[in-house]
This record gives sequence, C-alpha cells and structure tokens, in this order.
Amino acid sequence: MKQGKILVTGGTGYIGSHTVVELMQAGYDVEILDNLYNSKQEVLDKIAQLTGKKPKFYNVDLRDAEALAKVFQDTQYIAVIHFAGLKAVAESVEQPLRYYENNLGGTINLLECMQEFGVKRIIFSSSATVYGEQDAEAYVETMTTGQDITNPYGWTKSMIEQILKDVAHADPEFEVTILRYFNPVGAHSSGLLGEDPNDRPNNLMPIIMKVATGEIPELSIYGDDYPTPDGSCVRDFIHVVDLAKGHLAALQHMQNGVKIYNLGSGEGHSVFEMVAAFDEASGTKLPCQVVGRRAGDLAGFYADPSLAAKELGWTTELSIQDVMCDTINFLKHEGLEIKGRN
Ligand code: UD1
Repeated sequence: MKQGKILVTGGTGYIGSHTVVELMQAGYDVEILDNLYNSKQEVLDKIAQLTGKKPKFYNVDLRDAEALAKVFQDTQYIAVIHFAGLKAVAESVEQPLRYYENNLGGTINLLECMQEFGVKRIIFSSSATVYGEQDAEAYVETMTTGQDITNPYGWTKSMIEQILKDVAHADPEFEVTILRYFNPVGAHSSGLLGEDPNDRPNNLMPIIMKVATGEIPELSIYGDDYPTPDGSCVRDFIHVVDLAKGHLAALQHMQNGVKIYNLGSGEGHSVFEMVAAFDEASGTKLPCQVVGRRAGDLAGFYADPSLAAKELGWTTELSIQDVMCDTINFLKHEGLEIKGRN
C-alpha cells in the first residue's frame, strides 16, 4: 500500500469509478466523495469486487461546506482528484445559474477546504471543450482557451481552470494538474463498471447503448454533410480505462505549479465509423437515421497527446473495437439484451 490517502470527488461516476479502480489496483488508498446525483451507491460494491476493498464513502455535496470540512477533518489527504460536477451540455444552456453555482461553487468550497487543511495537490477533470472552435484539427495544450465556448458547462470548465491557475499562483507550494479529456467512451473489461447515467443521455455512446437495448428507437446521426471523409463528425474517442490510467500517470508526476495535459488518443473516428464498429462487435445493425446538424457541433477535432506521452509516459492502448466489445459486455452484465436489426 502506498503512503497517504487520496480523496476522489465524483468517484462513483463514470470516469471517477474507473479511475478509483486503477488507483486502488496500483496500491493507493482511496476515499470517495459523491452526492450520488448522477451515479449509484452500488458502484462501491463493484469497485470492491474488482479491487478486494470497498473504499470509504462520503455521501456529501461539495456545496455543503460544513459537511466537506468534516471530511477533511477526519483525514489528512495527500491529493484530491476532482471529478464531481454537472456535465449535460444542453441542460447547462437551459439552466446556466445551476451549472455555475454547482460546478464553480463546489470547486471553490473544495479548494477552500484544501487550503484550510493544508492539502496542496489537485488533479482536475477538464474538457477539450475549453478550446472552443479553433482553426485546427489536432488540439495542443498551448492553444488559446476560453474563447468561442458554446455553453455554460464548457465555461465552468474554463473558469475552474482559471481559478486553479490563480490559486497555484498565490501559493507556490500548490501542485495542480489539469487534464483535458476528449470523448471518453467504453467500459471496464470486467463488465462491472460503465456509463450508467441517471439522467437522459445526450452523448453519442450512451445513446447508442439505449438504442441497442431498445430504450430509444433509433440513433439520430447529426449531419452527414460536414467537410470530413464520410460527412459525419469526427471525434477523438478515448477508452475510459485508458483515461483512468492517465490520472494515475498524472498523480505520479505532480509538481509545484500548474501542468496541463490533453488526454486523447490522437486519432479521429467518425460517427459512421462508431456505428459500424458497434454493428461489427454486436453482430446486429443499429437502427439509425441521418438528421440535420446539432447546433454547436464542430466538424472534427482530436487531441495532440504528445505532451502527456513525453512528460507522463502515458499513451492510449485500447482501440475502438475494445470500446465496443467492453460496452456490449457491460450491457450484458446489466442484464440488458442487444436488440438491433439483424
Ligand atoms: C460533448 C460536448 C462537450 C463535452 C462532451 C462530454 C457539445 C457541443 N459538446 O462533446 O462540451 O465535453 O460532450 O463528453 O455538446 N451525435 C450524433 N447523435 C447523437 C449524439 C451525438 O450523431 O445522438 C454525434 C454528435 O453530433 C458529435 C458526436 O456524435 O458529432 C459526438 O457527440 P457527443 O458524444 O455529444 O460529444 P461532443 O459533442 O464531441
């Protein structure tokens, strides 16, 4: 067992839970804080099944400063990995204040507690959305951010990045790593963990999963007239286990000041390619129909992941085929049947 405990906020969520498993399997002692708004407490038992230990769990909302202080009073953490936050893009456009209050308010409380209790190491879950629209396909960490962001969710990520930079500037002992995720997809190879949102999904893979199991009648493909090889949008889909391992690598390379890394595969796959890969892995045909473009979608972008490779020694290992096989395995473990059209 490694020395010291790590607090993972949002640790029962999709990316958080996969990261907790990787951390525990690498010998870290992890505690989870989550308000279970978009995740389920059963995830803790699944983590226990995979790692042999059920992590200590705090059902706490980051906006509850008093409850949060109690968590920090109990334990001297060596680091915090901060996933907790609201993340539905369309909802953030409809309810901006709720997003700012939750994501910014929660993060500020967390940072205040960290300061009060002398915890000076944080990894933050950011998003490629902070790049906004750029005249480039491969996004590099040195590009300007915080311009042309199309929704309040994206703004909260960008603003939290700024808050972290300011906190680190004010206290030179602070160690901040910002990880900008591209499009996380897939599930744990055991079939025990995967994306299982409580709310209505709006990202591609959760919708594909619901179409496959018959909960949604068909997939709407948002546009086939983009300037891409097959006309559908291109994204950098990254397997969630690769992404989780990126956090482990980041934790092992923390240093004073702020470091920022893209976590992506560096490869683009189109929406049509994703559907074809799902069909091949499932042996069925996913019902889908091309419809008009979705407002705010960019034609194509992917990560330049070379900085993470160079400085963290991290690169992705899993393919789109792995993503689809693991997703199907997860659905089967959940007792769901793949229907599709034969
Ligand atoms: C979206 C958010 C981004 C956020 C990320 C989190 C927007 C504009 N961007 O990225 O800020 O960080 O999710 O994972 O919402 N698609 C379909 N049919 C569907 C759903 C999606 O064709 O039913 C297409 C989309 O047009 C897009 C691709 O699939 O081209 C990926 O969509 P999605 O999974 O929502 O991710 P992003 O839009 O890339």
